[in-house]
Amino acid sequence: MPVVTGDGSLTFAHPVHGQTCHSKAGAWTESRERYAVACRVRERALEIKAAGATSFRLLDVGTGLGLNLAAALEALSGTGLTLDADTLEIDRSVIEATLAQGVATLADLERWHAPVRVALAGALRAPSGTPVECAGGTLRLYLGDGRESLRTLDPSARFDAVFLDPFSPGVDASLWEAQFLAEIARRMAPGSMLSTYTVSLGVRAALARAGLKVGCGAAVLTKAAGTLASPDREPLPLDAKTMRRLEARLARADGFRPEFRPASGFPDDA
Ligand SMILES: C[S@@+](CC[C@H](N)C(=O)[O-])C[C@H]1O[C@@H](n2cnc3c(N)ncnc32)[C@H](O)[C@@H]1O
Repeated sequence: MPVVTGDGSLTFAHPVHGQTCHSKAGAWTESRERYAVACRVRERALEIKAAGATSFRLLDVGTGLGLNLAAALEALSGTGLTLDADTLEIDRSVIEATLAQGVATLADLERWHAPVRVALAGALRAPSGTPVECAGGTLRLYLGDGRESLRTLDPSARFDAVFLDPFSPGVDASLWEAQFLAEIARRMAPGSMLSTYTVSLGVRAALARAGLKVGCGAAVLTKAAGTLASPDREPLPLDAKTMRRLEARLARADGFRPEFRPASGFPDDA
């Protein structure tokens, strides 16, 4: 069911549990700020371009309406890099509804969402995972359970950014499972960043156990924080109380691992 959000862009509410695919305060704003900006897509693109890259590899977990993909295209504009995206979706009807109805009520969103719609339409006509052209780059849509799809991706592929955007752990836990998050972590390139809207301690602990540095995502719209994770970058540190809770969670679950440090270390470290 379509829902008009606070910035004028549309999102959909799930027909069963009712959760919307984006913040009701602004779907397009959330896509830009929580994902493209938080993952430093533009900055990272310029860094890897200087090192010889020609495309930016994105793992987009939860294709939905494709707004996060549109935000990635916007962030890459003018960098000289094309988007090379693997996008995971279990429910083709969300994409079909997006194509039937359109979501781009804003001119700047339409500019970046139009090529995403063309690519998704082509991808729906082809077998799952077929590369299709997207704004001069490539998009592969994997239809099915993302946990299975991820295992079928090129094992040597390393992502420059990960947009982790499933429904919340409370309504759909599948894409927050520790094993899935560990598989994502294994596929993150040096210098890459993962962003998600959740502040769940369990999710943060799973990301840390997967070997990532875990930090705090910025406030976006009505949400005071999110979560960032990277194999080697220092995200904004968690506050002292949250760090202590995370440390306790990690110690309880599988024994304290002295080599683990959230971004900037624990506040109690001497
Ligand atoms: C919050 S919405 C994503 C919104 C999207 N990122 C966008 O920009 O429009 C979550 C999406 O994850 C999909 N999803 C839920 N469980 C999944 C699973 N196990 N595998 C793949 N996709 C899944 C849902 O169908 C839904 O489209």
